[in-house]
Amino acid sequence: MQKDGLSKDAILKQLDEFQTKDLDWKSGKFFGYVFYPGDEVYEVIQLAYTKYMSANGLNPAVFPGLRKMETDIISMCANLFNGGDDATGVMTSGGTESIMMALLSAREYAKNVLKMEGIPEVILPVSVHPAFHKACHFFGLKAVDIPLDNAFKPDLALMEKAINKRTVLLVGSAPQYPQGIVDPIPQIAALALKHKLLCHVDACVGGFMLPFLEKNGYSIPLWDFRVEGVTSISADIHKYGYAAKGASVIMYKNASIRKQQFYIKTDWTGGIYGSPSFAGTRPGGAIAAAWAVLNFLGENGFMKMAKATMDETQKMINGIKEIPELQIFGNPDATLFSFGAEKMDIHTIADEMAILGWVINRQTEPPGLHVFVTQHHVGKAEMLLNDLQFSVKKAKGFSLNNLKKDLQVGVVKGMNKLLSKEMFEKVTKMAGKSSGGAESKRKASMYGMMGELKGTGTLEEMVLDFVDELNSPEKPNK
Ligand SMILES: Cc1ncc(COP(=O)(O)O)c(C=O)c1O
Repeated sequence: MQKDGLSKDAILKQLDEFQTKDLDWKSGKFFGYVFYPGDEVYEVIQLAYTKYMSANGLNPAVFPGLRKMETDIISMCANLFNGGDDATGVMTSGGTESIMMALLSAREYAKNVLKMEGIPEVILPVSVHPAFHKACHFFGLKAVDIPLDNAFKPDLALMEKAINKRTVLLVGSAPQYPQGIVDPIPQIAALALKHKLLCHVDACVGGFMLPFLEKNGYSIPLWDFRVEGVTSISADIHKYGYAAKGASVIMYKNASIRKQQFYIKTDWTGGIYGSPSFAGTRPGGAIAAAWAVLNFLGENGFMKMAKATMDETQKMINGIKEIPELQIFGNPDATLFSFGAEKMDIHTIADEMAILGWVINRQTEPPGLHVFVTQHHVGKAEMLLNDLQFSVKKAKGFSLNNLKKDLQVGVVKGMNKLLSKEMFEKVTKMAGKSSGGAESKRKASMYGMMGELKGTGTLEEMVLDFVDELNSPEKPNK
């Protein structure tokens, strides 16, 4: 800590400097992590956040404004997800917390309502977000994994076979993250109804996209409370709701299931304590910013953004389908998808894309690249497709001479126009070097983290060391 504090100017200068080291997501060459609604909406969110930055959602009675905003958000979500009058929920800090709350209430439901003995089990398609396994780890639940079929949807026969007397919850995603596919929620929920189980739909990604796509007339599989048997839904406002980070909802079909997630302690020496979710202190800024963006954009604003994002996604998917070396995985339902290259190393292609400035999340099962299209990618499909064509060629081992010839005759369409002079020179220089292969395989396909795994232990040990390193101060020579 500084002995005497720094000046405001010095602090802001330092923050600007830190930001220069971050990835330039505004370039549109970077997927995931950031959902930017444009400067005008951003300003509204920023103002709302700072106005309520010191307010604490811990005790809504002290901040009735926050309480009003949160209950407004919950009723907007109940409406958006067709939950009727009984649907209710709680705001949380993000998708992971919402999912954790759904699994906590399932555990408590097993104990308090089903009077189940032993360790409750939850049935999870392998495509669910790792937050589900994290929740099982935290809450002592047993996760039962269900493989996917060729369409990247869970095998329903195996799902039913996995149900036993300790099963409490079935899960589906709308859509799942890896391939952007909406799971067959009506069938999963029907299984839940048949066996008298809970059914959670993870719409962390789709919650603020699918309803607006449907209102725009796109054909979207049914996934929300209209499906009989769905008992809870997680949906992130800080994703396609474009709110400031720290805003999600966990919605329940009714208040009696919601109650299972509350924590009460009546004999604390500091007073009686009651808390609706994980957090104690809850950031007023995140609640106010979420309320502001939902009200500022309104249904029409969200519909417009959803349409533009979906149209751009379809341009990307159709363009990738025309590149013979690449294959889209399954039939993505919304605005995220992944693709592979059957006869090539897709991660080598990712390396080539990285030289052109693209940061694309890598996947391993199956090997693929993940594209998460948002508002600030609108208008970027052509650049992505041109760079992909170029990267595929280069990954196939095109020589520097061939590449230069291609660029001159414009085979790699628009390439020279799209790249800065500096980048163009760098690319043509790199083209002479054989690329990919063993080098690219060292790159980690880590969701939510970019980096290279080092060391010689098991994969778990290397990832553990990597997480440890990321959460420690940087070494001076880096
Ligand atoms: C389908 C899905 N569910 C849950 C999450 C977790 O959300 P968060 O990162 O806000 O915890 C994600 C994040 O990308 C996701 O894609």
